[in-house]
Amino acid sequence: MKYVLAPIAGFTNAAFRLMASRGGADLTYTEMVSAAGLAHGSSPTRHLLEVLPGEGPVACQLFGAKPDELAFAAREVSATGRFVELNLNAGCPVPRIVREGAGSALVKDPVRVHDLLVAMVGATNLPVTLKTRPGPRPDKVLMFELLDAAETAGAKGITLHARFTSQNHGGAVHLELLAELVQKARIPVTGNGGVKDLETARAMAATGVAAIMVGRAALPNPYIFSTLKSQPSSPEPTRSTLLHGHSLSLLPPPPSLFHDHLEALKALHAQIAANFPQDRLPTLDAWVAGAVRTHLFRYFAGRPGVGELRRRLASIRTLREIEAISW
Ligand SMILES: Cc1cc2nc3c(=O)[nH]c(=O)nc-3n(C[C@H](O)[C@H](O)[C@H](O)COP(=O)(O)O)c2cc1C
Repeated sequence: MKYVLAPIAGFTNAAFRLMASRGGADLTYTEMVSAAGLAHGSSPTRHLLEVLPGEGPVACQLFGAKPDELAFAAREVSATGRFVELNLNAGCPVPRIVREGAGSALVKDPVRVHDLLVAMVGATNLPVTLKTRPGPRPDKVLMFELLDAAETAGAKGITLHARFTSQNHGGAVHLELLAELVQKARIPVTGNGGVKDLETARAMAATGVAAIMVGRAALPNPYIFSTLKSQPSSPEPTRSTLLHGHSLSLLPPPPSLFHDHLEALKALHAQIAANFPQDRLPTLDAWVAGAVRTHLFRYFAGRPGVGELRRRLASIRTLREIEAISW
């Protein structure tokens, strides 16, 4: 079984992807990148295409609604030589994205999905894939039409986040629909939604998917991939479950993770500054403090004193202050 880090806007930049690669992810995804942004030459959009030395295979996810913009973006992304796959986002429910006809607006529109994928396939030699949902809501399942759109457009894989658009990112994960899609598909299916431990990974593996994509559960522990890979994905009891009468829990990430992620953030900031000398970037202090407050504090979840730590973090503004805290 292959394990994959999901695209997560605001989180899966090169620094975090490096942590996930080290933590065992077989493939990682960029945050969703605006095809219109690339087509119009937006620098902040191009910053999202940075990859750090040492990262494993990275796929680039694009969002958009216009075939010509997706073709342009596919060419530009391919030309960087940094990515192993191009993915089309047909699932993001954020209103700003949906209003422009992208993201989950596409879940309702298999014909447009087909046209966008044809445009991408025609513009790159990289494998093109689709990430989508079963349908807009439980009484409207469109995943077979979306699968057909992907296959006839020449896509090489499909990821199903097995929740309807109406569920946003919560609620039941429809593994029965995922299993049905696997039955019908002639291209590999990656399953996504709610995988957070060995039990949920095994339940998803039982659908027959070729790969499992993990999103939010990787944020506090990018080494989740190593734990999941160290165990058979079949539901048979392992030696350990027989011995201890319960299934293995996830191993904690290494104690150096916080420091390693900080170092990767510094390297990424320096790389963006070097590659885009004309751009005004946030200062390293502001950038790192923001990442610590929104993401890196999660590495300490469950430790004693974490509430107090979060309170202190709220007022921290500099890298020096962050490095001075005794974690
Ligand atoms: C904050 C946040 C940002 C996300 N950004 C993206 C994105 O850029 N592209 C995408 O395809 N999905 C995005 N997703 C959805 C995830 O990739 C994934 O499909 C979803 O979280 C379900 O997987 P999980 O239950 O393992 O988290 C995002 C989800 C969250 C919570």
